[in-house]
Amino acid sequence: MVFCVGLTGGIGCGKSTVAELFAGHGAGIIDTDAISRQLTNSGGQAIAAIRAEFGNDYITAEGSLDRIRMRKLIFADADAKRCLEQILHPLILEQARLQLDRLQDRPYVIIVVPLLPESPAFQKLSQRILVVDCGENTQIARVSRRNRMSEAEVRAIIAQQTPRDQRLRIADDVIHNDAGLDSLAERVAALHRNYSSMQSSI
Ligand SMILES: Nc1ncnc2c1ncn2[C@@H]1O[C@H](COP(=O)(O)OP(=O)(O)O)[C@@H](O)[C@H]1O
Ligand SMILES: [Mg+2]
Repeated sequence: MVFCVGLTGGIGCGKSTVAELFAGHGAGIIDTDAISRQLTNSGGQAIAAIRAEFGNDYITAEGSLDRIRMRKLIFADADAKRCLEQILHPLILEQARLQLDRLQDRPYVIIVVPLLPESPAFQKLSQRILVVDCGENTQIARVSRRNRMSEAEVRAIIAQQTPRDQRLRIADDVIHNDAGLDSLAERVAALHRNYSSMQSSI
């Protein structure tokens, strides 16, 4: 089994940027957000269950998840959020395991899981946990620029995520991503050297 590093962090902390830097060193990358999108696109494996649970109103004419409508619902309704997660998480895990099987030739694999702190199954899959962290002001500045959101909108999303200190508590390694991209690349290069020499224990 290839060595597997679970990568997590709050919105805008730099997960995707870090994953791309690791990919540049030859690491295998599994992106659970991309898997989730695939499952909820037209023809995706999760569509039938979502339709059965939430009704046709949440499926577009093209047969994909109506993301805007669903986002509004789960933002306001914790039960609905749980229900959607109960449909998606087992399917995401299954797809991630399939991708992992296909990445056995890599020196190691980085699996990007925003919900890692809440997911024992993904924690079990990860031999090591890497948290990308930055100050809340940096997070707000980056996300409001990237997604054209107001400060209040970004704060509302942050408030719904696992608190920063809880996330840091599960970390084996931390990347502090408050400075520029050069120092980020240096930190990733150092971690790459460490991970390349680590062996899977399963
Ligand atoms: N060290 C950095 N310096 C400048 N911009 C950064 C840095 N790290 C990330 N960014 C930018 O901040 C935004 C959020 O980063 P991203 O990797 O998309 O975060 P996440 O995937 O965790 O939501 C992106 O637009 C990215 O280009
Ligand atoms: Mg991302």
